[in-house]
Amino acid sequence: ATVAVLFGGRSSEHEISSATAGGVLGAIDRDRYRVIPVGITREGVFVLEQDDPDRFRLDAHKLPEVVDNGTRILWPMPGDDRALRVRRADGTIDDLGAVDVVLPILHGLHGEDGTIQGFLDTLAIPYAGGGVLDSAVCLDKHFTKIALHDAGIAVAPGIVVRSRRWASEPDVVRDEVTALGYPVFVKPARAGSSVGVSKVHGPDELDGAMRTAFDEDDKILVECGMRGREIEVAVLEGRGSAPTRASLPGEIVVTTREFYDFEGKYLGGDGAEVICPADLTDAQTERIRDIGARAFDAVEGRGLARVDVFLTDDDEIVVNELNTMPGFTPISMYPKCWIASGLSYADLISELIELGRA
Ligand code: DAL
Ligand code: MG
Repeated sequence: ATVAVLFGGRSSEHEISSATAGGVLGAIDRDRYRVIPVGITREGVFVLEQDDPDRFRLDAHKLPEVVDNGTRILWPMPGDDRALRVRRADGTIDDLGAVDVVLPILHGLHGEDGTIQGFLDTLAIPYAGGGVLDSAVCLDKHFTKIALHDAGIAVAPGIVVRSRRWASEPDVVRDEVTALGYPVFVKPARAGSSVGVSKVHGPDELDGAMRTAFDEDDKILVECGMRGREIEVAVLEGRGSAPTRASLPGEIVVTTREFYDFEGKYLGGDGAEVICPADLTDAQTERIRDIGARAFDAVEGRGLARVDVFLTDDDEIVVNELNTMPGFTPISMYPKCWIASGLSYADLISELIELGRA
C-alpha cells in the first residue's frame, strides 16, 4: 500500500512533528508500504519532502523542520484516482501515484485538532489516527474535561479564563485562582508539548504565567497542581468490533525539574525521566488501563491516543488530558508503552496504518 506521511505543520509543535517523522520514516515497514513524505512548512505549504530519516532526527541542538523547497503537493479530488501530484519548482508536474492512506503525524493546531482530518474527509482519502470530533475535543483541554466529566471520569479542578475576561476583571480571576489554592498550572487551552505552560507557586507569579499562556491561545486553563505521580497509558482503537486496547502504563518521573516542560521533553534538559512500565501494583495497572480505554471511548476516540493521568497520593486516578497524536519518536512514551506491552515500533506504525485503512 502507498502511505503519504504528513508532518511538520503550522503549530508551535512543528519541530516535534518533524522529529516524529524522522522516527517513522526510519522504521516503517518498507516491504509493506511505499512512502510519500509530505512536509508542511510553518506557513502551511505542502511540499514533497526527502525520504530521509536522518534529515529529521531529533537533535536537541537543532530541532528538525520542514522548509519550503519550491515543490507543491496537489491533492486529488474525490472520484479521481487518488493520485497525488507534485508541481516542481520549474513548473513541471509529476504523478506520485495513488495514495491508499494518509498518516498524519502532526501535533497541535492545524493537524491534531480535526482540521486536517476534515480536509482529508472532504477529499475522501482514508487516514490513520483520530477523526474530526475526537481530535477537536482533545486538542481543547476545556472541552476534553467536559467530555470526561460527563463520562464520570475525574479531572483536575480548575477554571477556564478567556483573554477578554482577564482584561476586564483580573482581580476577580485572581481571587478565583487563590480559591483553587496554589500551586496551580496555567495552560493554553489549545497547545501541546507544554508550550505556554507554567507552574505558579503564588500570586506574584500569576500575571507573567497568564501572559505566557495567552501568547498561545485566547483561552486558558488554571488548574490545581495535583499531588501524586504522573502516569501515561497508550491506547489503540480495537480492530473491527473489538474493544479499545490499553498498554502497560509508563511514568514521568520528575526529580530536579519544576515539571515535565518543553526543555525536559525535547532539549535534553535533565531532571525528568520517562519510564515504562511504571512501578505499579497489578490493581493500579488495571485501573489505569481501564480509565485510559474509558477516556478514549468517552471522546469517541479513533486510531490512537496517549491518556495522561495523575495517580494521586490518595490512590485516585485523575485524567489530565488525551493526546490524539502523541509524540511518536522511538523514545517517546507512546511507542515505549507499546514496546513494553509486546508491540514493536515498526508493528505499531503498521497497526495504525491498517486501522486507518479499515
Ligand atoms: N504534544 C506532544 C507531542 C505529546 O503529547 O506527546
Ligand atoms: Mg498534550
